[in-house]
Amino acid sequence: MHDLTIARSLHVLCVVLWIGGVAMVTLVLVPGVTGEPDAFSRFESIERRFASQSKITVLLAGLSGFYMVWRLDLWARFAEPRFWWMHAMVAIWLIFTAVLFVLEPLVLHNWFRSSASRDPRGTMLLIQRFHWVLLALSLLTVVGAVAGSHGGF
Ligand code: HEM
Repeated sequence: MHDLTIARSLHVLCVVLWIGGVAMVTLVLVPGVTGEPDAFSRFESIERRFASQSKITVLLAGLSGFYMVWRLDLWARFAEPRFWWMHAMVAIWLIFTAVLFVLEPLVLHNWFRSSASRDPRGTMLLIQRFHWVLLALSLLTVVGAVAGSHGGF
């Protein structure tokens, strides 16, 4: 198989597992535990498993993405507004990379835990909003990337 076909397939496979998981957490897990007395602990113990998988899929999505940019010499696209979906892909990737590898382990974990002990309802609401925003931006990016890479814009 052609190296670009492998990179594209791996890229899409990782995006499916990663963003699909974000959809599952946002649409099923968070609403499912919200309102329960130990909502935050239940959310955290399940989300932790997804977060460790996501570290691998986010990393591979980024590597395969940058490989395609390098191999196809697509750097000039980043200077053109009509390739907004290329910027969106990199922006979403940077946000998740920062959250998973830096912010969650160093700041968010402890912050959410202490916030949940003071205000469990408010904390779950915040977590819900945070996931909704990330999911909406990610889905917009998926649509933009599929349409854009097939000449839709
Ligand atoms: C470092 C981050 C990323 C880079 C450098 C990157 C790069 C690329 C490149 C170069 C392509 C091929 C474009 C073309 O054929 O014209 C592509 C396709 C695609 N990317 Fe990304 N990407 C990244 C992250 C993401 C993220 C975060 C998502 C989803 C939220 C995503 C979803 C897609 C999709 C759905 C396609 C289209 C596949 C197809 O229909 O053939 N990418 N990406």
